[in-house]
Amino acid sequence: YIGFHFDFSERKLVSDDDQEGIKEQIVIKFSHVVAENTPKGLAARKFADLVDQKSNHKVKVEVFPNGSLYSDKEELHALWEGDVQMIAPATSKLGSISPKWQALDLPFAFPTEAAINEGLDGTIGRTLLSSLNSHNIKGLGFWVNGLKQITNKDHAIISTDDFKGRNFRIMSSSVLKKQFDLLGSQSVPMDFNETYRSLESGEVDGEENTISNIYSKKYYKVQNHMTISNHGFLGYAILINNDYWNSLPRNVQTIIHDAIKETVTWNQKHYISMNKKQLKSIKKESDIQIHTLNAEEKKKWIKKLHPLYQLYEPAAGKKLINEIEHLQH
Ligand code: LMR
Repeated sequence: YIGFHFDFSERKLVSDDDQEGIKEQIVIKFSHVVAENTPKGLAARKFADLVDQKSNHKVKVEVFPNGSLYSDKEELHALWEGDVQMIAPATSKLGSISPKWQALDLPFAFPTEAAINEGLDGTIGRTLLSSLNSHNIKGLGFWVNGLKQITNKDHAIISTDDFKGRNFRIMSSSVLKKQFDLLGSQSVPMDFNETYRSLESGEVDGEENTISNIYSKKYYKVQNHMTISNHGFLGYAILINNDYWNSLPRNVQTIIHDAIKETVTWNQKHYISMNKKQLKSIKKESDIQIHTLNAEEKKKWIKKLHPLYQLYEPAAGKKLINEIEHLQH
């Protein structure tokens, strides 16, 4: 049987250039945890529409937002098990299975949005996506939410000393935990959709997230202070179960690739304005006190948090850290 490529999916027999040849309806379940009116929610919706159009309604992507199917903790497992075919977790949540991803959580990793796009479109993005191959996951690309800000209930967080003794909800990520350790804070790893309740009850004092998530999950209604710090990156790896991917006809793979490419371009064009618009809405709809770090303050945050780069070099790899530092100059 040398040279014979056995494929357990009969669907592969469909000719590559015949879209009409998709014989049976294919349903792809896509689970994510954020609201629909967000960079990820809208990109996922757009992806589903494009796949529907390009396949002449033969491939249906069912999108489950708001963690309605699986929470952050569950979704990776569900992908491995084949209970869901696609997810797009925050890159922060991948560091525990593939340590290189921790590089993207380093404080101030990307100084600007242009640097984010450059990094993800280039070697950094390719290195990270291919690191998932050995986990039976195929990485299809990245969507970006934006840069993270700090919110807090009772205290304005301006100098790094303001973090001391307070506790913050974090995504489950070793770097984020160490970041708050360094600031003298406690951090509580928690699912995204449990955060609002925890902020409201006062179980945690604050959290870090993008404007888009702070707005769509209404954190700004239970927090009195927000610092525009842009201190961390929040973006998503678009993932598909690799066995499932290999079982798809070649022409369906092409449709998925093309649709992802279009949504990546669309997302890069719109995520900044979405966050900007929602910042305006937050200002209009609440009395939250907003402080924007000035250059001097920001320099101090960068300096305080810089030891994390050395700490995570062994796990993330010197090459990747160098690539990221290169974007900062
Ligand atoms: C979070 O848990 O704060 C984010 O990962 C949610 C998301 O997917 O944007």
